[in-house]
Amino acid sequence: MNGAIARANQVTDQSFQSLPPGSQGSPHSSALLELDHVNASYGPYKALFDVSFKVPEGSAVALLGTNGAGKSTVARVISGLVPVESGSVVFGGREITGLPVWKIARAGVAHAPEGRSIFASLTVEENLMLGFALRVGESSPSKSVKEALEKAYAAFPRLGERRRQLAGTLSGGEQRMLSLAGILTIPPKLLIVDELSLGLAPVVVDEVFDTLERILEEGTTMLVIEQHIGRALEIADSVVVLSKGRVVHDGPVRDLEEIVQEIMPRPEE
Ligand SMILES: Nc1ncnc2c1ncn2[C@@H]1O[C@H](COP(=O)(O)OP(=O)(O)O)[C@@H](O)[C@H]1O
Ligand SMILES: [Mg+2]
Repeated sequence: MNGAIARANQVTDQSFQSLPPGSQGSPHSSALLELDHVNASYGPYKALFDVSFKVPEGSAVALLGTNGAGKSTVARVISGLVPVESGSVVFGGREITGLPVWKIARAGVAHAPEGRSIFASLTVEENLMLGFALRVGESSPSKSVKEALEKAYAAFPRLGERRRQLAGTLSGGEQRMLSLAGILTIPPKLLIVDELSLGLAPVVVDEVFDTLERILEEGTTMLVIEQHIGRALEIADSVVVLSKGRVVHDGPVRDLEEIVQEIMPRPEE
């Protein structure tokens, strides 16, 4: 594990710093993340009904389901963007339900949302620096951000070539790459990726999934929401399937691959 990653993993909120690795002797001890009977709504529209599942530490769980099933809502609930109406979200043995977004991020949860979460009027480098500044280096932030930038440019050379270019003038694929580079460069404890491959050329999707696999090997736990079911299943240890806001399947990939292919149309690869 290199320095930047080690440091990133040390960046925790005060309330998490006393937590030993692998968590406490709670019923959640094998799971890094556990959702327990989570209900959530957008105003009067109820999006999640009693959603419960676990993401074991060090594993990758694929969260699948048709359009509108509630996948992105689950991601937003975990990262604190959508409030939990009832039920709980436990991360690293501690309840994070109701914590503000920044505290959940500091605790080690990174959420790569759908679409391109970039600032169009800032340069590529400024976008990366903003992302890194939140997540690196307690002692020497500028040095850590510089290291992180170098890592990002090594992993995504095209961003290095365009570092002074305004992000809004990048191609769609490059913008997606930029929004990912900020997260993939400093792997968190839990990475939630939402439709990562959307809008990326197949060769770039390959690069991104290679990076995900490397990060998984380095110890980051993952919740992978992905339209390319085949790719998601390649990387995942287990699958949770949502339908109309409810969990309809939860089990190891080997048991579910056929079912998932039956209930979901496989997009063109
Ligand atoms: N901001 C929002 N306001 C109101 N309804 C929303 C909002 N975002 C999502 N929804 C609704 O919640 C349901 C679940 O959406 P979402 O979690 O985005 O599904 P998925 O990511 O599986 O496609 C859908 O019916 C969607 O229309
Ligand atoms: Mg979605």
